[in-house]
Amino acid sequence: MNYRHAFHAGNYADVFKHVFLLRLLRALQRKAKGFLYLDTHAGRGVYDLASAAAGPERTPEWPAGIGRLWQEAQLPPALGDYVALVREFNERRGGIGDRPRFYPGSPWIAALVQRPPDRLAFWEQQAGEARVLHTEFDGWRGTAVECGDGYDAFRAALPPRERRALVLVDPPFEDQGEFEAILAALDEGLRRFPSGVYAIWYPVTERAQTEEFRHTLSARLRQPVLGAELAVTANPQVRMKGCGLLVINPPWGFADDVKALLPALTERLAADSSASSRWEWLVPSP
Ligand SMILES: C[S@@+](CC[C@H](N)C(=O)[O-])C[C@H]1O[C@@H](n2cnc3c(N)ncnc32)[C@H](O)[C@@H]1O
Repeated sequence: MNYRHAFHAGNYADVFKHVFLLRLLRALQRKAKGFLYLDTHAGRGVYDLASAAAGPERTPEWPAGIGRLWQEAQLPPALGDYVALVREFNERRGGIGDRPRFYPGSPWIAALVQRPPDRLAFWEQQAGEARVLHTEFDGWRGTAVECGDGYDAFRAALPPRERRALVLVDPPFEDQGEFEAILAALDEGLRRFPSGVYAIWYPVTERAQTEEFRHTLSARLRQPVLGAELAVTANPQVRMKGCGLLVINPPWGFADDVKALLPALTERLAADSSASSRWEWLVPSP
């Protein structure tokens, strides 16, 4: 496996994922009681958008992602919340300019809003990426970094002692079997901790495959499942036309966030006029 998220950091898929991740974290923080944030495919936590890994021989992807929101003064509050966090991240690393220099991965999105009772657990399989993650969070309170298979985290970390958890499953989808691996891990996770909030990101490359995944996942669950998708284009020449998020046990208010934010994201992240979005309850909330 040689997936390098640095090529994609800050692109439209990261914006979509991290905007909704932040809404989920904020929703869980409406209650004072702490929770576990478990990131099964955490990446390295920080991406230098000016580094060789992000370019320059490749066209950078961030301008069509975070770049579209960076300078906008009148963002809807939830998008403003997300951009403010990315700005704070840049400020901590030496300053802010007319373009983002660093992009925070999901671990830092969670760490920047972490409260004292919240615990963070990051799993990353690639040793080099895990090493960076270790360094980033060395001494950071309430945080554990594991170099290992994130699918093992369901067994290792659940149920959490807080009896509250948000689990982000964000694999690279390089292997054919990734959808099956997610389903098997979720079986284990939900058996061990049925009331957890699970957010699963997926790319929309082949429509039939993602429809089958959404259907298979929802058909075996009794927990509520909300699905959200953004397609930046319908152009058949483009391989990854969009991405989606499935949220099992979405917290109160999250469906309203999705409903309000999808049009705002589609408008800003569209690659062309065929961009679209959709959301639905795959398993309705009782
Ligand atoms: C899409 S990236 C994660 C991005 C990160 N969640 C974020 O939003 O910033 C996927 C990561 O999963 C890692 N990975 C691949 N297979 C894995 C596995 N079985 N367990 C844990 N990590 C894995 C890759 O090395 C890569 O860093």
